[in-house]
Amino acid sequence: MKNWGTEFMNKDIAEVLITEEQIRQRVKELGEQISREYAGKEVVLLCHLKMDFMSISSYGDAQKTSGIVRINKDMDSSITGKHVIIAEDIMDSGLTLSYLTRLLSERQPASLRVCALLDKPERRECEITPDYCGFTIPNKFVVGYGLDYKGYYRNLPYVGVLDPKVYEQQ
Ligand code: XMP
Ligand code: MG
Repeated sequence: MKNWGTEFMNKDIAEVLITEEQIRQRVKELGEQISREYAGKEVVLLCHLKMDFMSISSYGDAQKTSGIVRINKDMDSSITGKHVIIAEDIMDSGLTLSYLTRLLSERQPASLRVCALLDKPERRECEITPDYCGFTIPNKFVVGYGLDYKGYYRNLPYVGVLDPKVYEQQ
């Protein structure tokens, strides 16, 4: 049986792109900036990570989105009149977020912004930029800090480039 412990996973990482410490520092900075800009306002933070309040998946393979999005589970609460920040792991083609922001705007929130930990602008297929961005990264497939490849590598504490041999072998 394959051992999927962190030590084993480290071997599949071609390059550590952003270290645990760099992520911690940047997340703190973004948190402080958002807290300042929304001071005194009630904010709805919408995560659409697979484990959360709203779950979205797009049809496509493990590395890229088709842009056709399916809502697996919608939010429980109404966002009408609320200040909403969508927390996103990575903005790639931008198709997922462009769809989601269009959908949520129809619910008439007081404001709607996007915060993405990572941004890969080279891959953009539509006009959208995150309002808050942790790091701009090159056009490479990355994993770790919540980002997975077929459900694996999510628990790595840093963001690293997945060695292409991992998906080319398959
Ligand atoms: P868009 O619609 O912006 O989709 O193309 C963004 C979603 O695509 C996935 N994605 C990645 N996942 N490493 C990953 O683990 C990557 O380098 C990567 N690039 C895109 C991810 O689900 C993201 O939400
Ligand atoms: Mg995502």
